[in-house]
Amino acid sequence: MLTAKGYEVVINLGAKDRPATKDEVMTGIKGADALLSVLTEKIDAEIMDMGLPTLKIIANYAVGFDNVDLVATKDRNLMVTNTPGVLTNTVAEHTFALMLSISHRIAEADRFSRAGKYTAWGPQLLLGTDLSGKTLGVVGLGRIGSRVAYHGVKGFNMKIIYTDPKPNPEFEKEFGAVYSATVDELLPQCDFVSIHVPLLDSTHHLINETRLKMMKKSAYLINTSRGPIIDEKALATALSEGWIRGAAIDVFEFEPEITPELKNLENIILTPHIASATEETRDKMSELAATNIIEALEGRTPPNLVQ
Ligand code: DGY
Repeated sequence: MLTAKGYEVVINLGAKDRPATKDEVMTGIKGADALLSVLTEKIDAEIMDMGLPTLKIIANYAVGFDNVDLVATKDRNLMVTNTPGVLTNTVAEHTFALMLSISHRIAEADRFSRAGKYTAWGPQLLLGTDLSGKTLGVVGLGRIGSRVAYHGVKGFNMKIIYTDPKPNPEFEKEFGAVYSATVDELLPQCDFVSIHVPLLDSTHHLINETRLKMMKKSAYLINTSRGPIIDEKALATALSEGWIRGAAIDVFEFEPEITPELKNLENIILTPHIASATEETRDKMSELAATNIIEALEGRTPPNLVQ
């Protein structure tokens, strides 16, 4: 789309199997009108200054934009865009893939089978937990959180308890959902807890030792939002000491590093930040990011202006 419009597109081909280095971004941004960034690139004031005076827009290829310093973009009058909407279904599906996999012990059972341990069927073999009829706690009722709740109700007859800065009476009416004013109130009531909040100062380590201890011992924690929302060391302790039954997470506190203690546990599923990674969705995210750039450079307001 960008080359078809006649723009020169410079791609950092070095950063295929590793994040781009700050130096690479600093070099690449010199003289550019737009930067198409991915979530592993921390776009700070120093990088922005390298792009000035030509730089007009930072088009983040993600719905989350915690990797971009919005104070610095505001000071420099730079536009920032994201890619909302197109990944809602895919992330909600991945959330359920994780929820089903951990509660039905799919990854563990796969490892078991491959290791030649399946020697006899037995009524107690790898017992899991049903989703049907259970209580799902949704932390953050934005686009993705509400789609997860929808699947929970429609697909598995789950009861929904949700927390968000303000209640949503329409949603409550449609899905029989119950509002919880605080995470602390929600946690002890839920069999599954799924996190769907953005990473902010106020959500960093939202799930910490104290809150993990508030959850039911039989509960599962799912995270497809941002890694630092969970204190990973505390999660590892919670899983090994049985404060909760299991977890399934797609995002990590120190991404792409994974807290080593987590990797040794059977009762956690770890996926490498792929919740939006389907061919259809990644195509749409690319199109949206390119559209945002084209609109900005042609003097119109990009459709997904964050700031
Ligand atoms: C996002 O969009 O924020 C996801 O984490 C990656 O698709």
